[in-house]
Amino acid sequence: MIAVYAARTSKEDPMSALEVGERPAPEVPEGWSRVRLKAASLNHHDVWSLRGVGLPEDRLPMVLGCDGAGVDDEGREVVVHAVVSDPEWKGDETLDPKRSLLSERYQGTFADEVVVPRRNLVPKPEALSFEQAACLPTAWLTAYRMLFTQSGVAPGSTVLVQGAGGGVSTALVALGSAAGYRMWVTSRDEARRARAVELGADQAFESGARLPERVDAVMESVGRATWSHSARALKPGGTIVVCGATSGDATAAELQRVFFLQLRVVGSTMGTREELGRLLQLCSVSGVRPVIDQVLPLEQARDGIARMVDGEVFGKVVFTRP
Ligand SMILES: NC(=O)c1ccc[n+]([C@@H]2O[C@H](COP(=O)([O-])OP(=O)(O)OC[C@H]3O[C@@H](n4cnc5c(N)ncnc54)[C@H](OP(=O)(O)O)[C@@H]3O)[C@@H](O)[C@H]2O)c1
Repeated sequence: MIAVYAARTSKEDPMSALEVGERPAPEVPEGWSRVRLKAASLNHHDVWSLRGVGLPEDRLPMVLGCDGAGVDDEGREVVVHAVVSDPEWKGDETLDPKRSLLSERYQGTFADEVVVPRRNLVPKPEALSFEQAACLPTAWLTAYRMLFTQSGVAPGSTVLVQGAGGGVSTALVALGSAAGYRMWVTSRDEARRARAVELGADQAFESGARLPERVDAVMESVGRATWSHSARALKPGGTIVVCGATSGDATAAELQRVFFLQLRVVGSTMGTREELGRLLQLCSVSGVRPVIDQVLPLEQARDGIARMVDGEVFGKVVFTRP
């Protein structure tokens, strides 16, 4: 089958680690299901994998891709939940110490076929296309959990999103504005700030800009470049929800602000199968749809991945199979 995979890893030059070519079709273990993929979407996780973060040499070659939607062997249209937990694990899959994401231990979705535990399949709502559904299991699910499960702030609150163009950032703005939060956004780029406002943000600011007032919660995925700004942006008692550190780990933890203003710092990773079901339903009934930057045939995945490495993407890049 055709697949997009990490043949090696390179911290400095992730594109040199990428191959597009033939890989053996996966065997289907007992209790697992095969999905013939119609669409898969790109996440920054795939770039981290090419850089060797979370992907040791002994697991190579590894088919990339956490997100996918397609048709299973019974002919059902399904979305794949990317968090693979231990078969014995009960409850919130994101808390299982033995969990992995597709493409970390098990081959990912940038291929004709993927195999996953049967419980990782969620029905695709008819209202969503395969391309739209394939955007939801990682960036959008992460945004859903950050905002609705982890932030602890109710609709009507002001929420700052660091970064405008990313998969997680666009999801936060779309979901938050639909749910009645006042969404503020920062970006390094004027055009991306304008697009965030079109998407539903109430206001967009230059990265690091002084805000008109303090906010109830900040959604962080950028890390070093924005962390101090996030701590300064919060009201006393406010919450930073952090899911990533694209620009690296924060060099100042801002501990004085954290204790003096009684800030809460809450980590967030992916979401449960149940949360993915609710996210699919939310999109289905509300009309909210993922922001798709580009749709490419899987064979041209290299172009989309290069644009993400260069920071040029606004929303999600989707790869399709016929
Ligand atoms: N914990 C989890 O489960 C989980 C799930 C999903 C993602 N993540 C992590 O979250 C991060 C974002 O993922 P993604 O897929 O949304 O990636 P992406 O599409 O590549 O988004 C990158 C975002 O980071 C911002 N950014 C990058 N460098 C910046 C800098 N130096 N200063 C300010 N902003 C900067 C960009 O903002 P502008 O270009 O608009 O300025 C953009 O919004 C990644 O690190 C990823 O690994 C974690």
